[in-house]
This record gives sequence, structure tokens and C-alpha cells, in this order.
Amino acid sequence: MSRRSLKSILTTEPEGQEITVLGWVRSFRSNRFIALNDGSTMSNLQLVVDFEKFPEAQIKRVTVGSCIKATGNLSASLGAGQKVELTVSQFEILGDADPGVYPLQPKKHSLEFLREIAHLRFRTNTFSAIFRIRHAASFAIHKFFNDQGFFYLHSPIITSSDAEGAGEMFQVTTLPLDKLPRNDDGKIDFKKDFFNRPTNLTVSGQLEAELAAMALSKVYTFGPTFRAENSNTPRHLAEFWMIEPEVAFNDINDNMNLAEDMLKYVIQYVIDNCGEDIAFLNERDQEEQKQKPQQERNEFTLIEKLNFCLNNNFERITYTEAIEILKNSTPNKKGKFQYPIEKWGTDLQSEHERFLVEKHFKKPVILYNYPKEIKAFYMRQNEDNTTVAAMDILFPGIGEIVGGSQREERLENLERRMNEMHIPTQEMYWYLDTRRFGTCPHAGFGLGFERLILFITGMTNIRDVIPFPRYPGNAEF
Ligand code: 4AD
Ligand code: MG
Repeated sequence: MSRRSLKSILTTEPEGQEITVLGWVRSFRSNRFIALNDGSTMSNLQLVVDFEKFPEAQIKRVTVGSCIKATGNLSASLGAGQKVELTVSQFEILGDADPGVYPLQPKKHSLEFLREIAHLRFRTNTFSAIFRIRHAASFAIHKFFNDQGFFYLHSPIITSSDAEGAGEMFQVTTLPLDKLPRNDDGKIDFKKDFFNRPTNLTVSGQLEAELAAMALSKVYTFGPTFRAENSNTPRHLAEFWMIEPEVAFNDINDNMNLAEDMLKYVIQYVIDNCGEDIAFLNERDQEEQKQKPQQERNEFTLIEKLNFCLNNNFERITYTEAIEILKNSTPNKKGKFQYPIEKWGTDLQSEHERFLVEKHFKKPVILYNYPKEIKAFYMRQNEDNTTVAAMDILFPGIGEIVGGSQREERLENLERRMNEMHIPTQEMYWYLDTRRFGTCPHAGFGLGFERLILFITGMTNIRDVIPFPRYPGNAEF
């Protein structure tokens, strides 16, 4: 059977033609009007049923959430709100949804409640919009890179290295946890493990992307990454998706340009291709804003915010300049920051990032040249010997959305830094080999996909923009 999506039917010229549709019931009014949805679009198709023509028992089974197949004639709709409707001549119930126990009803459910029933939340307008947008954004990312001559690299998910050197890894093992094999010194004998060594889930595909960039020039990864950081925040997940381009011959400025172009491209693509979903989320956001006290409301609507981001250059300032701004800021002077800014060298907290973006510049900001002490081992050391060519992009309402750098391509410098930071140079001979053989300047960054989707959809909790969120204490579904 070739099924036509409701999206295509809703834009068809109605000429009384006979059509069969399949979908789920969103509402059933007056025993007569069924709002049918199949997820291809935000809009429902109105089915008109003459209940007197069907057995009462069959009509009773048309409930919110039930799945039906209906055949009828497509005609122009007289009612407001839709162009076409289907006058049903026959229909069958493919799947019942007992209203006594079905948890979703056509009313507003809280996001917290919907998170508990994440297996069903796709069926709401909000979540179907979010996941259609998530698809479009991921497609746009591949298109952006493909059009620019990048190659998509599949970096490994199981690795034996810690790309960020932060030790926030989930271990991977087939050893029996209740009977771990031990060496004479009492340490676990990983020689008996599946890979003959300790392994973990990847925290980043960057190091492998760098290896490939030293031959293919322009590559990117787009895959799941895992962090066992105990961050119970609306912006952290234990499993998230990251996009990591890596480009030979790029310096830190090229890196910033690439990141800004890419973010703007994806946002524009979603605006152009998901108009209905964005309009819905824009309304939703405005409703949410109305619930808040005046001073906490956003200045912009969601659509204004997206356009503002597209139409303005991101502000680019050094870490040192940012510290000066923060030091002299009103909240710092009035002791309003939980972590007061006292001296150069401290890591920026989310409250500082958000002050810069939301209060001071009121637009996306790229911070670069960070102190080397607060950044990863692979970042290129600047002439001043104290900073590295790192860059973070900060977005309104989100904070850090991108983290990247120019890479240290000089073997000696890299080895020295790795030794200082206790990164095992012997085990990572393969990484150092790129610096031994045909090294060159290169740069890359990581974009947190869910943080981008948060920004585009105007949602506020990262757990609502990934189908099945993983966070401390939760791996349901
Ligand atoms: O800043 P991060 O840790 O950088 C890296 O992993 C580099 N290897 C990237 C590179 O240069 N190729 O992470 C990059 C981005 C962050 O800016 C953030 O958007 C996102 O990944 N991110 C998270 N998103 C959700 N949950 C978490 N726990 C995240 N940790 C990082
Ligand atoms: Mg970072």
C-alpha cells in the first residue's frame, strides 16, 4: 500500500477524490469531527464522520490516541482553520487507546510529567515539533559540511583514551564485576578483559578527527559522546551528540568563522524548512513568558531571537577582555555573583557567561585566548606562554554552545604540555605521530547538538530536546 502523508494531503487541491489516510486521533468533537495526525506535519487533517452511518460500538472506539485508517472524499472545508477535510465513508480502528488509562489527554501537561512518559511524549505537538526540528538541524549540518567539501568521519565509540583528559568516562568491560580477575599486586587484570586493556565510551571524537584531517584536510564527526560528570543541570546530559569539524591549515580565526557560519546556516535552514513548528514553539514560548514575573521575561520572542542571531556578527573578545568587563560589572561589585571574579585565570561559570551574552553584549559572544591552566592539553600555546588559542562560543539562554581551539601542532610543545598535565605520551604515540610526520597548523571545535536545539526551539531543559535523556539516576527507556 502506498500511503500518502497528511503533509502532502493537506496541500492537495480538493476535488472530491477518494483518499485513504492513516494516523492517530488527536481529538474527537461532537461525535463528528476527528482531528487526525500522522507526525508528518504539525497540522491535523479533519475527518468528518456521520456517526449515524456507523455502529455505535465502532464510534466509541474513536478515542484520543487511538490509531485509525479511514477512507473518504477530500473536499474544501467550510470550517475555519483548515483548507481541506475528509468526509469519511469507511474507517477501521487499527489500535485502541483506552481513555481510562491512556495518560495523554488533549490538555496542557507539564514538561516534567511528559519526561516521565517520554515513550509517549512524541505524540504531543510540542515534542513532535522538537523532533522534526532536531531532524532538520541534523540534516542541515551534514548538508553544510558536504557542500563545503568536508568528509563525514565515523570516530569510534569505544576507545582506550580520554580525549579531554578530564577523567569523566564511563568504563566498558566484559569482566564479571562480582569476580574481577586480579594481578599479584591486587590490581584488576585488564589483560583478561575483552580488549586486553581498560576501555571507555568516548568523550569526544576530536583526536581521531585530527588524525583524519592530516590526510583528508576537512573532516567532521557527528556522533554520540558520553560524560560521567555528575552535573544535574538543565544544560548537561550524560549522553549527548556532538559535531566536531577538524580542518588542516585553519587557524583560530578560520575556526571562529567556520563555527559562526555553520551555526547561522543551521538556524536559517530550520527557519526555512520548519516554519510551522517554529511558529508553534514561538507561541508556546510567549505563553510561558506570560507566566513569569515581568523582569524575568525575555526581551525577544523566539523568532526575533533567532533572526537577531542571524543578522548580527558574534562579538569576539579575548578571555582577558572578558575578565575586565566582569570584574567591573555591577553584579560583581554588588556581590551578586555566586563566584565573584577576583583575578585573571579563574574559570568562567555559567553566571558569568550569561552576564556577558545576555546583559552586556546582548548577542552571541566568542571568547578566545584562555589561560592554559583551565584548558585541555591539545590547545595551541600562544607566544605569551600563559594563554592558549582556545575559543568558546556563548549563546543567550544557553551559555557555552561551542568549545574549540587551534591545535598544538609542534611536537616539542605538545609533549611538554602532555607531560605537565600527566597525559600518557607513550600510550598516545598515535596522536603524537601526526606531529612527527608531516605536521601542520590545524583547528577544530565541538558543537553540542542538544544545546543548539535548545536555542532553536526555545526550550529550557536539555532533557526535552533529546528523545531519551540520560542523566544521573536516569536511563529509563
Ligand atoms: O567543550 P567541550 O568539552 O570540547 C570538546 O569536547 C572538544 N574535544 C571539542 C573539539 O574541539 N573538537 O565540548 C564541546 C561542546 C560544549 O561546548 C557543549 O556545547 C557540549 O559539547 N557539551 C555538552 N552538552 C551536553 N551535555 C554535556 N554534558 C556536555 N558537555 C559538553
Ligand atoms: Mg568546553
